[in-house]
Amino acid sequence: MASLASVPLAEGLSWADARLPRGLVRAPGDFLFAPGLVYLQTASMGPVPRPVMEKVMEWWKELELNPTFYGYGPHEKAMEDARANAAQFIGCAAEELVLTRSTTDGMNWVAQGLDLARGDRVVTSDQEHPGGMSGWKHVARRHGVGLDIVKILPSTHDAGRIVDDFKRAITPRTRVLMCSHVLSSTGLRMPVAELSALARSRDCLMVVDGAQAAGGIAVDVKALDCHAYVMPGHKWLLGPKGTGLLYLSADVGTRIQPIALEGSRLAYSDSSGVTSLPSVLGLSASIDYVRAAGIATVEAHNVALRNRAYAALQSVPRIQVVSAPPGPMTSPLVTFRIPDEVKSRDLLQRLLNRHRVMVKAVPEMWMNGNRLSTHLFNTEADVDAAVVALRTELA
Ligand SMILES: Cc1ncc(COP(=O)(O)O)c(C=O)c1O
Repeated sequence: MASLASVPLAEGLSWADARLPRGLVRAPGDFLFAPGLVYLQTASMGPVPRPVMEKVMEWWKELELNPTFYGYGPHEKAMEDARANAAQFIGCAAEELVLTRSTTDGMNWVAQGLDLARGDRVVTSDQEHPGGMSGWKHVARRHGVGLDIVKILPSTHDAGRIVDDFKRAITPRTRVLMCSHVLSSTGLRMPVAELSALARSRDCLMVVDGAQAAGGIAVDVKALDCHAYVMPGHKWLLGPKGTGLLYLSADVGTRIQPIALEGSRLAYSDSSGVTSLPSVLGLSASIDYVRAAGIATVEAHNVALRNRAYAALQSVPRIQVVSAPPGPMTSPLVTFRIPDEVKSRDLLQRLLNRHRVMVKAVPEMWMNGNRLSTHLFNTEADVDAAVVALRTELA
């Protein structure tokens, strides 16, 4: 991989910009990006704020002074506080939240923890991420569970239509509705509260893949009224890699019983085993970082930048923006299609190597395109730099 140091700064950026306050960050230098890097890729992996990373290192050093004393003592207790802190952030009780390692991990626990029988059915969409789908594919293969896939075209920006399509897909054997809160393909914000109401009215469980939501937009699991909601720590919550959260609403009762929760829902139990204690504490500190900026403010900032990108990308030649126009179904993600002769991975490399702009190549199963995502450390200058870079590369 090319060293960033050998790459010129993005057009419109000077070295001084790297030290300027960025977006909603608390202090300049709170993020450790390579100088001049325009990072528009939180939707894949978020950065950990420097103050959080430094605290994680401190906790780690303390832990190693006497691993059993701290690990089964003060740090274990602090992990419970972290769980309660995260629960408060998404509006649930601590007992309703469990620690996982990732979105995929949490979703696998839900799929495997359900008592699904041959012939039972799960309704989901064709825009789900492979990580969100793997558990359901597993139960389909292993236990003969049927998957009913609702198609969501990139041009579908209509909540009512999506709810109707899910409704039509439900059969008497449907046990679960599962979808992303925000689609990773196009950034469409799904009508989760309406889908939860539908699921509940048909005695189904509503399971939500929140990988692209919590931390980037405000999430209140009680307002969404879903049964299960899975999140990574390492995207929008800006937590350490390999952290995650799973919300299981109190009324799920014993319907979802993952092996890892057999002992209890505590951060450490006989069935969970030891986890990365400093990372869990770091996740709580990252949540505090986002919370300090105010989640409503963060969401407004992220969506405003995304809308700026949406507007500017309309005039870039050879690009077709497929994400929804500004409105209630938008999120901090924006996706555009590029001509078939331009490979999205090649474009990604050129944007990085020539302009220091980091975006995502949207997997070809969805379209030949790229995606930008904007978080609290991004600025209007970042969006503008990405648009200039795209204009140059696609000219
Ligand atoms: C919607 C969605 N679900 C699941 C995942 C997988 O996330 P994780 O790495 O936390 O398992 C992603 C990753 O991008 C995603 O966008």
